Amino acid sequence: MSKLFPSDFLWGGAIAANQVEGAYREDGKGLSTSDCTPNGLFGDIVDRNKNDITSIKDRAIDFYHRYPEDISLFAEMGFTCLRTSIAWTRIFPNGDELEPNEAGLAFYDKLFDEMLKHNITPLVTLSHYEMPYYLVTQYGGWGDRKVIEFFTRYAKTVFERYKNKVKHWLTFNEINMSLHEPFTGVGLDRNSTKAQIYQAIHHQLVASSQAVKLCHQIIPDAKIGNMLLGALAYPLTPKPEDVWATLQENHGWLFFGDVQARGYYPTYMTRYFKENNIELEITDQDREDLKETIDFISFSYYMSCCGTADDSLRQKGNILDMVPNPYLKASEWGWQIDPIGIRYLLNMLYERFQKPLFIVENGLGAKDKLEADGTINDDYRINYMNDHLVQVREAINDGVEVMGYTSWGPIDLISASKAEVTKRYGFIYVDLNQDGTGTLTRYKKKSFYWYKSVISSQGATLK
Ligand code: BG6
Repeated sequence: MSKLFPSDFLWGGAIAANQVEGAYREDGKGLSTSDCTPNGLFGDIVDRNKNDITSIKDRAIDFYHRYPEDISLFAEMGFTCLRTSIAWTRIFPNGDELEPNEAGLAFYDKLFDEMLKHNITPLVTLSHYEMPYYLVTQYGGWGDRKVIEFFTRYAKTVFERYKNKVKHWLTFNEINMSLHEPFTGVGLDRNSTKAQIYQAIHHQLVASSQAVKLCHQIIPDAKIGNMLLGALAYPLTPKPEDVWATLQENHGWLFFGDVQARGYYPTYMTRYFKENNIELEITDQDREDLKETIDFISFSYYMSCCGTADDSLRQKGNILDMVPNPYLKASEWGWQIDPIGIRYLLNMLYERFQKPLFIVENGLGAKDKLEADGTINDDYRINYMNDHLVQVREAINDGVEVMGYTSWGPIDLISASKAEVTKRYGFIYVDLNQDGTGTLTRYKKKSFYWYKSVISSQGATLK
């Protein structure tokens, strides 16, 4: 079996605007839902128009001003791809304007030019865990069908503007997450009913398919994918009830991929909606729109979990409530580490969708120690990533078409769930403390050199 990854495999890292850029009100940027969860997406929702508070995210790692330095470090590691997102609120500060904010568009022009200068392919997410907060207060978020039109105006604007620079796009980050955190996902109140959440999700799915259509029209040589939180569940036991519950649990997130890749709602959801008295408003035009399907499937993968018919075994996790696997160890944040799970998931998704796959997030959040001599010895991160990449290579040898791998947070950034700085993912350390102090100086960790050698050897140095 080949030890080498394909020569056109895209290697790199993934970041998101609201976790790195900072400059949260600069150059006309509007308030986003992310700005209004200053302590992370599971923290309180705060109306920043009315409250004079600050958040570590306001400056983040100041990527807005320091991106040339960071991109040259990514280039030094040999990146051929960088996944980032556009902050919708830099382009349409309130979301419902007719004309975009030129200063916001100009920023991403400079950013993409900088990547291209280093031969780094931009992979751009249209909406990564944020939307204009104004659309939440004035329209009720994705609960209102009008938001589809606002989103597609934004998508059309950026496709037209960057059509010669960006040929790889994603619609909504971890679109299945809304079921667990509706404010961040679809701009809904946390007490919303399941029916309201699914209706908002439906609007988002329609918007996603309309964006796919626009992308295909405006940039015919581009590829556009979806983005799923790969929440792989294994049966906790071979008991048929547990095996069945696990299938249902996996349907809970695969459903999004089914709609986006096949163009219609799967029958298991029809039954689910009926049994839960959920009646969605789906127009004939919606059904027509949904037929425009994505070109590839992208997903994040950090951990696997177990499915069981016994709900009392669930433990409060970070994003999901999970049943732990007794055979796996966990990270400092309790995320269970399962490298074989990524091979399993790649095979499972490829068999299901028969479309190319892109791993757009994977990595280890850990506490790092900056030594007096400026080094950071993050062997635990190297081991985690080595073991996952070995399994990705196995999947490629199984025949799965994998377009690339962008590790999460190649540079330390602000964590999404709790806005923590101490939960570091990077190959590059950023001198920043939770209280906001720190010089923001960048340091190369041991994993920086390790990843560089993996990329330059096309994976041959993996153990
Ligand atoms: C994914 C998100 O859920 O996981 C990222 O797309 C996030 O935005 C990442 O940062 C890791 O989660 P956390 O909470 O450790 O930052």
